[in-house]
Amino acid sequence: MLRVAVIGVGSIARSVHLPTLLASECAVAGVMSRTGERARAVAAQFNIPRVYESLDEVDADCAFVLTPKDTHGPIASALLRRGIAVFLEKPMATTLADAEALLQAAEASGMLLMIGFNRRYAPAYDALHREWADRPPEVVVAEKNRPGTEYRAPMENAIHMIDLLRWICGEAVEVTASSQFDDPYYETSCVAHIRFPRTLGVLVANRSCGQWMERIETYGGGKSVIVDAPESVAVVDQRQTHVTSLTPLAMGWATVQDRLGFRQEVEDFLKAVRTGGTVRTPARDAFETHRLTDRILRAAGLPGMDA
Ligand SMILES: NC(=O)c1ccc[n+]([C@@H]2O[C@H](COP(=O)([O-])OP(=O)(O)OC[C@H]3O[C@@H](n4cnc5c(N)ncnc54)[C@H](OP(=O)(O)O)[C@@H]3O)[C@@H](O)[C@H]2O)c1
Repeated sequence: MLRVAVIGVGSIARSVHLPTLLASECAVAGVMSRTGERARAVAAQFNIPRVYESLDEVDADCAFVLTPKDTHGPIASALLRRGIAVFLEKPMATTLADAEALLQAAEASGMLLMIGFNRRYAPAYDALHREWADRPPEVVVAEKNRPGTEYRAPMENAIHMIDLLRWICGEAVEVTASSQFDDPYYETSCVAHIRFPRTLGVLVANRSCGQWMERIETYGGGKSVIVDAPESVAVVDQRQTHVTSLTPLAMGWATVQDRLGFRQEVEDFLKAVRTGGTVRTPARDAFETHRLTDRILRAAGLPGMDA
């Protein structure tokens, strides 16, 4: 059975990845945290045999790195160098230079490095992607709004939408953007116009809204496809509207892990480690999402991913 290490046992680990791993065909061999305190509590709660004091002790086939973004590069590189495949939560790093160094470390190691852009595995976004498999839409409007700003908010939050835009439309040709902020590291809004080879895209990322809201509208060729995340997909042609609501009941009491694609990305990573196969979000592809994020930030007058 595949042996898995979990590095970082904070909010995403405990709410999403650990429950998924503990229900999957693998053995969680050990956990690690910064101080060790939370790792010991998690190990006791879930009967996990080891608490690692250092990365050198990790005795697993693969690792989930679920630590804060500024620690990603050194932790993931050290594991890859030891021949351990890595699933790393987004973003890869806080600077493009660190993300690129990590990509090179992964390629030099020959080990899989997958980045956690879970939205590509969410059933609603998967359906959207399939609707445009033959040709991209002509217009896309992607919105990611969430109350309460935070340090480098687009990198933490809107980066999922930037990744979906690339997945659906290809590589950006031109970017213009603007933003609102008192402090550029804690901006309130960023709106970008991104021209793709065959698509005009708009990204809206706001942090002074009422509630969490994630929505993508796509138009082209006499068809509209609209996703209201996490579970509604409307396909509208010139005669009818077909709405699929992936409710928990429709999906067999699906959890948020299922609806946002977390379970599917974990299963795909474990399968790729077992079989040597590929995943939807390998590091090389994910790096391009970070490059586009950097272009958007700069175009909007916000600090880019160089600081
Ligand atoms: N895909 C998504 O939608 C999504 C959603 C939320 C978060 N995330 C990403 O997930 C990552 C983690 O976020 P989070 O909110 O779970 O963070 P968090 O709650 O702050 O937890 C971080 C964990 O990492 C541990 N840690 C910190 N530095 C470490 C080090 N040097 N070595 C080993 N462990 C270390 C911490 O240890 P202590 O417990 O000892 O402090 C803690 O257990 C971030 O990259 C974030 O962007 C992704």
